[in-house]
Amino acid sequence: MIGVGLIGTGFMGKCHALAWTTVRTVFGDVQEIRLAHLGEANDELAAKRAKEFGFAKSSGDWRKVIADPDVHVVSITTPNKFHREMAVAALEAGKHVWCEKPMAPRFEDAEAMAAAARKSGRVAVLGYNYIQGPAIRHIRNLLDEGTIGTVNHVRLEMDEDFLADPDAPFQQRHEAVNGYGALDDFGVHPLSLLRVLLGRIKSVVCEQAKPYPTRETPQGPRPVEVYDIATALFRLESGVTGALAISRSAWGRKGRLQIQIFGSKGSIVFDQERFNELQLFVTSDRPSEQGFRTILMSGLHEPFGRFHPGAGHGLGFNELKVIECHELLRKIAGEPAHVIDFDEGLEIERTVHALARSSDERRWVDVR
Ligand SMILES: NC(=O)c1ccc[n+]([C@@H]2O[C@H](COP(=O)([O-])OP(=O)(O)OC[C@H]3O[C@@H](n4cnc5c(N)ncnc54)[C@H](O)[C@@H]3O)[C@@H](O)[C@H]2O)c1
Repeated sequence: MIGVGLIGTGFMGKCHALAWTTVRTVFGDVQEIRLAHLGEANDELAAKRAKEFGFAKSSGDWRKVIADPDVHVVSITTPNKFHREMAVAALEAGKHVWCEKPMAPRFEDAEAMAAAARKSGRVAVLGYNYIQGPAIRHIRNLLDEGTIGTVNHVRLEMDEDFLADPDAPFQQRHEAVNGYGALDDFGVHPLSLLRVLLGRIKSVVCEQAKPYPTRETPQGPRPVEVYDIATALFRLESGVTGALAISRSAWGRKGRLQIQIFGSKGSIVFDQERFNELQLFVTSDRPSEQGFRTILMSGLHEPFGRFHPGAGHGLGFNELKVIECHELLRKIAGEPAHVIDFDEGLEIERTVHALARSSDERRWVDVR
């Protein structure tokens, strides 16, 4: 039996709660799960959510969740600025941690989190759910098998439009206290894909942009403190070159996370907006029939079949979190697991800060 503590119940908090509720039904091979203690910003909201989500206890003080002996693993789904304090406290109390990405706004905070994880000997995993997609795992297999030959170039884009409206008011996402903006808000997701598919970045050059430098508040216009757009070139440790473009102001894009990988014998294209499929082009096809083919995810693409056998019926975003939760439990059980832990996450943070430094100093920067 493993007792779960959940801190935060917004977008990601509900997603974690669904994962904890579902993971045993889907995978069967994990220990029994007890929804032990839910924490929110105040007692009233915590009690309401605990009732809805099925948690035994609730508290308006997250420290009580961490101190609870019934809690063995803590899901941290609060805004970035809280991650360090909550994760370090949970690890020091001997709990495993499942913390949402990114680690923290400042590199020194991320370093403190990784150090606390190492010292505690507990499992500390980040919410990089997109690496869990069956298509991403299949791309990994295709690369390992040499299906597209030797990789020579990679391009990544991540675009959404929740900050595209120039007339939208100033909000918390525009404050520097939560980081640089697009880079650590969601640039980290394409970086997580790069990390599991093609390895580490060696050097970067980046330009950040602020399409709307002020936003309205009831007191008048307020300067936007962060960047909504970043465009970068990079070189991997393997020597492969690539490009990364991200925007939170890209009208019409809702969850586009595209990766294109070009090799000596073919190409692979994937887009998170259509994450139940991938596109493959191989030069081994007869030239008269060459072209990108669409491969639908199915029971042949682990772990799709754990949910249902129907290719064409698809998985959803919340199911990526169920897979991530299963990997976390495998790691806690001492089994090999496909996760980004705090040490791996620190490498992503290192890249984010190198990108921001490059943008500030207007030059190429080595990540290490
Ligand atoms: N993995 C992903 O795909 C993904 C997607 C969106 C957000 N995120 C990350 O998840 C985190 C949360 O984002 P969100 O979109 O769920 O935010 P949200 O605003 O929807 O939810 C945050 C929750 O934290 C609660 N909270 C705030 N302060 C608290 C406190 N002191 N104690 C307890 N609870 C507190 C809020 O009441 C709210 O329920 C961020 O780090 C974000 O980067 C990850």
